[in-house]
Amino acid sequence: MAFVTSEAEEVLYGGAYGGGKSYALRAIAVDYCLRYPGANVALFRRTYRQLEDTHILAIQGEVPRSLATYNQESHTLVFKNGSRIFFRYCEQEDDVYNYDTAEFDMILFDELTGFTYRQYAFLISRCRSTKPWWPGRRIRAATNPGGVGHAWVKSRWIDFLRPYEIRKGPAEEGGMTRQFIPAKVTDNPVLMARDPGYLEALKALPPEEYRARALGDWDVYTGQFFSRWNPSVHVVDPFEIPHDWRRYMGVDFGFAVPHAVIWAARPPDTSSLWIYREQYGAGVAPREQARRAREVTVAAGEKVEFIAMDPSMWAKAKDEHGVPMRSYADIWKEEWTGLTEIVKADNERVAGALLMQELMSWTSSPDGKPIVPPRLFFFRTCENCIRTFPSLQRDEKRPEDIDTQGEDHAYDAVRYLVRTLFQGPVRPAARRYIETPHGYLVIPA
Ligand SMILES: Nc1ncnc2c1ncn2[C@@H]1O[C@H](COP(=O)(O)OP(=O)(O)OP(=O)(O)O)[C@@H](O)[C@H]1O
Ligand SMILES: [Mg+2]
Repeated sequence: MAFVTSEAEEVLYGGAYGGGKSYALRAIAVDYCLRYPGANVALFRRTYRQLEDTHILAIQGEVPRSLATYNQESHTLVFKNGSRIFFRYCEQEDDVYNYDTAEFDMILFDELTGFTYRQYAFLISRCRSTKPWWPGRRIRAATNPGGVGHAWVKSRWIDFLRPYEIRKGPAEEGGMTRQFIPAKVTDNPVLMARDPGYLEALKALPPEEYRARALGDWDVYTGQFFSRWNPSVHVVDPFEIPHDWRRYMGVDFGFAVPHAVIWAARPPDTSSLWIYREQYGAGVAPREQARRAREVTVAAGEKVEFIAMDPSMWAKAKDEHGVPMRSYADIWKEEWTGLTEIVKADNERVAGALLMQELMSWTSSPDGKPIVPPRLFFFRTCENCIRTFPSLQRDEKRPEDIDTQGEDHAYDAVRYLVRTLFQGPVRPAARRYIETPHGYLVIPA
């Protein structure tokens, strides 16, 4: 089958539940170990528990002891021919650094959408070898849609390639050849034979879940925090902001991870908000973040009422003499002197998440036409907001909040602003609104 025999460097086998994806990964690992004596193969899942449940027991049943034995302490399947399969995980974002000196001939990921992009990018750099027989990089991943990494996985494979096509990825993403192989429930002959009613049973799921689970549709998935996200409702073409709308900004700090700055405009007497500009990216120096944001604002001749910022930006680090240094908030205050007020937002996560849900929600008539519009809109130019909002997942342990393992920086910047702006009960949405070719426009009451 295509996944097992693929010659591409980075292959994703993804889609429907139960297609035999995890089984296929183990088959690939075992085949490689037998073919190349002395091979080191790593099989990753996000948590150890998941590894144990899906792979560690299963593989011991699948590989006879005459070929390999499992070492409990090192979580390694050791083959008689010297090959090894390492069962590995990285539950915390930074657990990847446990592998910073590791070297694997082949790396496999199960449930890839459980990983963040940073983790994946780091781990694939550990796939290298100086062994004479090395056939080149083999990175193999299997996954269902959904999970914290849904957005980046979708853009790296599903949006980039047609199914089965092999194409080289961009140089800045490692430049390896990529392939996407769609997984269908019917790929698993064993399941089909043992439980022929399985497909029918899936049809009883709610339509969106059916599409994600049975058909492996990447445009819908469960666990989505903004489950009512709809680009034709929340995303609008940019329009000229009326003079009487007030402008505000929100900031989420980041350096190793992206920082996010958002600009928003609010029509008078409403609790609705249009996010009309964003600044986003990792590796930008703190002062540069503040300066860039100021420069575009000043160049556009805009007056900003206040900037609501990540409260962690008030932390003061100490220099080597124990003298407190300027906080990031101080840096923003310096860069924005005389232009606006800098406000420390609160970080009550659940309250913020509920407010965000409320602002994003909308209702439709049975034919799907919105009858009550949402109160939060995004200009089409705010690409990172539009990309990351639909990918945010519910926190499994605290379902009223988002899972912070996802790419939540744009979300946080908006959240800091709305918590500061809409204190107390949120007022009813604008009383009157009109549908324009650009979506909904609120007419001040
Ligand atoms: N080709 C095969 N031969 C024998 N057994 C198989 C085969 N493919 C899958 N199976 C069995 O079918 C079951 C489901 O397979 P698997 O767990 O790999 O599916 P999956 O696509 O990873 O599912 P999920 O989406 O739930 O993670 C397992 O018990 C597995 O051992
Ligand atoms: Mg699986």
